Amino acid sequence: MKVKIMSQDELKKLVGEEAATWVNDGMTVGLGTGSTVKFMVDALARRVQEEQLNITGVVTSTVTAKQASALNIPLKSVDEVDNIDLTIDGADEISADFQGIKGGGAALLFEKIVAVNSRRNLWIVDQSKLSDKLGSFPLPVEVIPYGSKKLFSIFSKRGYAPTFRLDNNGQLKHTDSGNLIIDLHLKMIEHPHDLAAELSAQVGVVEHGLFLDLVNTVIVGYPDGPKILE
Ligand code: 5RP
Repeated sequence: MKVKIMSQDELKKLVGEEAATWVNDGMTVGLGTGSTVKFMVDALARRVQEEQLNITGVVTSTVTAKQASALNIPLKSVDEVDNIDLTIDGADEISADFQGIKGGGAALLFEKIVAVNSRRNLWIVDQSKLSDKLGSFPLPVEVIPYGSKKLFSIFSKRGYAPTFRLDNNGQLKHTDSGNLIIDLHLKMIEHPHDLAAELSAQVGVVEHGLFLDLVNTVIVGYPDGPKILE
């Protein structure tokens, strides 16, 4: 069999379009953030228009809100809906046991709020995001600006190799909530649940990018087509 060589973007588009078919009429759908989700939102908006689907989107960032509202997907906030039937989001790294790192797009806080309030979470990734153990992608930690240098030095002393996230202009990146991101360059996370508990207990940490025991299904893009992992 001849397998077409596909770029990472083509793989993202493939899984984005596949995931859009998982949405049914009447659903309330969490809309994640990132370049893979962008393809999904485009495809979903086409379905809404062509099939007259009656859905409500719950967005996880101002970027996705802008895209979805420009494409006429009706939106509500997480506080305005009773339930979220399905949330479709990207991920930065997924381990063999379905744990994940998210926040590469700095939207981890709203993404996690939407994810924990969803009946079902579906992640869409290209094959490069899969790894045996988490840690090769730097772990984002969202922190309030006040005291962030103190947190940085605590993380440094613990050997977590922190860096402050910068924006495209070389300035400190601010999240949708006005917070900062410290990325931890850990290389390997042996005990993700312990690390998650440690970070959550740290005063000044708003949220971290370990998404543990949250995802039910992953759609992975391979050159010979999307594969569903459950
Ligand atoms: C944003 C995220 C994204 O879902 C993650 O970074 C994946 O992004 P992409 O689809 O662009 O690779 O967590 O905070």
